[in-house]
Amino acid sequence: MGIREVIAKKRDGRELTSEEIGLVVGEYVSGNSSDAEMAALLMAIVLRGMTPRETADLTFAMVESGERLDLSSVPGMTVDKHSTGGVGDKTTLVVAPLVASLGVAVPKMSGRALGHTGGTIDKLETIPGLTTDLSPDRFCRQVADIGVAIAAQTERMVPADKRIYALRDATATVESIPLIASSVMSKKLAVGADAIVLDVKAGRGAFMPDVERARKLAQAMVDIGGRAGKRVVGLVTRMDEPLGRAVGDAAEVAEAIETLAGGGPADFAELCEIVAGHMLAAAGAAGSAEEGRTFAQRGLESGSGVAKLREMVAAQGGQVGVVEEPERLTLGAARIPVVLERQGHVTRIDARRVGLVVRQLRARAGAHKAVCGVLLHRKVGEVADVKPAASVLWPEAAGPAPERAIAEVRAAFEVSEKAVPANCVLAGVVTA
Ligand code: URA
Repeated sequence: MGIREVIAKKRDGRELTSEEIGLVVGEYVSGNSSDAEMAALLMAIVLRGMTPRETADLTFAMVESGERLDLSSVPGMTVDKHSTGGVGDKTTLVVAPLVASLGVAVPKMSGRALGHTGGTIDKLETIPGLTTDLSPDRFCRQVADIGVAIAAQTERMVPADKRIYALRDATATVESIPLIASSVMSKKLAVGADAIVLDVKAGRGAFMPDVERARKLAQAMVDIGGRAGKRVVGLVTRMDEPLGRAVGDAAEVAEAIETLAGGGPADFAELCEIVAGHMLAAAGAAGSAEEGRTFAQRGLESGSGVAKLREMVAAQGGQVGVVEEPERLTLGAARIPVVLERQGHVTRIDARRVGLVVRQLRARAGAHKAVCGVLLHRKVGEVADVKPAASVLWPEAAGPAPERAIAEVRAAFEVSEKAVPANCVLAGVVTA
């Protein structure tokens, strides 16, 4: 069967074989089939869907398109985590060193900012001197030596995803559960950890608008992992208001360090404990996610996680001093207060709106973009009075702060006379 027949088969709603899926991905990556052919197939997948077996075969074909890491030199079980992306989501910066400090190695490849959401790599690179550009050898050696590395995905891993993702972006074919699931899982399988914890975000600030769709995505990814012989757990977590109180690259690193040192905002610390607990359980270092959470809490209290972060920063060439004094990261940023027009109980903070403000600030600040951000002094469930509910972080060296950003942050808040509870973080757990 040729490429056109495969496209027609999916167009007509029929199930593709492993060989047919392997053929189209292989031919596309080697340049023997065109963007037009792949775009037609992607649209057929968006409209017709894929069975779990087809989705797994698509994922495996994408993994085959590039290099994989060889983690065989790393002793014991390894565990990876992935978030589908949110606003203020700096969880990796806490859970990777924390879990490593508790004896399970974490090989973590991360991405850059996408749309209104931030990227772990941009955040980590605000630590002076730190490199995220590690060769596969150096990455694996660091994981074997100290138990953790966070690096940028290399160009040679899953090239099929890079090309297909760009095409999806240009052809309105991003929003498809089989396509998102295969894109995410191909990158996880190419890294090759034994266990994977997925944090699938649902809500205003997430790519999945509601818990039901997020659960379906989590299920699809857990299913792929199972077919690949991995232990995979999918957490569905809420992303309606920003996570924690800091949004913006340097401010988020500072908040992550504060959280690793046993402080940090309640919602963010809770999510870190839950994710780390599941990572420890999935890797067999805890008997259950609850027990894992207890271990994680102890790691935060004892400072073992922050000590591991220090080791990781040193191994990747960064200035270790910022781990002791995280406030150094946002030096040079003015804090412009945002006072709400109405006082009352905060019922909503639109995460997408806050994420977009930070994206616009970064775009305007040029070389100083790392210190741009928003600090939330009030969260949902708290009372906003005449004091500032938020501050905009803006680099003093970049001229006057954009007035529009301040108005947008103000407009992201909703207040009411009636009290509401704080948002709960976890909305569901999907296992095989
Ligand atoms: N993130 C990914 O890596 N792939 C997608 O398709 C969507 C989000």
